Amino acid sequence: MEAADASGAGLDTARGRGQAGGMATVNELQPPYRVGYIVGSISSGSINRRLSTALLKLAPEELVFTDIGIADLPLYSRDYDGDFPEVVRDFKAAIAAQQALLFITPEYNRSIPGALKNAIDWASRPHGENVIARKATAVIGASTGPIGTAVAQQQLRSVLSFLQAPQMNAPEAYIQLKPGLIEDDGTVTNEATEALLRRFMVSFFEYIERVLTVVPAPR
Ligand code: FNR
Repeated sequence: MEAADASGAGLDTARGRGQAGGMATVNELQPPYRVGYIVGSISSGSINRRLSTALLKLAPEELVFTDIGIADLPLYSRDYDGDFPEVVRDFKAAIAAQQALLFITPEYNRSIPGALKNAIDWASRPHGENVIARKATAVIGASTGPIGTAVAQQQLRSVLSFLQAPQMNAPEAYIQLKPGLIEDDGTVTNEATEALLRRFMVSFFEYIERVLTVVPAPR
């Protein structure tokens, strides 16, 4: 049975949500929207943490952000499935309370950091209690090199697909974060980069609105 829905999102949702007696339901939700953001780096001087500060500054007012930390999570094992530690229960509750998730990740060895993958694994378990499913998501990241986390972002997208999280496809943003590009307070010193990041966040707002507003397809 598990193979049929290994993401743990549950199979009954298409029937249980969005449809009643064969009729589609219109589910309109008004902003502000609750967005949890997860920085994939736990390094003290993280450039992705710096990028997150800039993104929050440039985001539309209709988005309300919560920082969802991953540094204190133990390493996931199935042995915990019957009884998750409190720190993990709090982490999962923080995600469950959001309408959308923004991932800001470094690239480590052409993939996402282990700390981020560990956090996502916790969020997806135990089977049937995947709290990432159906959250509107967006992925962005910064690296010191010119590739700008492109490979890591693609890998993260694959994980999020499996977990049944709708993802903003475009715009993409691969940030090469050179010293001085973003100041401590999140000010972006390059006009083109600032415009790109602002557009990214406006697009994410619009995407969240579309995901949360379920309009029946015309017959
Ligand atoms: C890196 N870095 C890196 N950069 C990149 O563009 N592609 C990569 O595959 C890697 N691989 C990699 C592995 C490991 C273990 C480290 C520590 C670093 C460099 C990386 O972009 C740089 O260290 C950033 O500063 C990492 O982001 P945070 O942790 O500062 O947010």
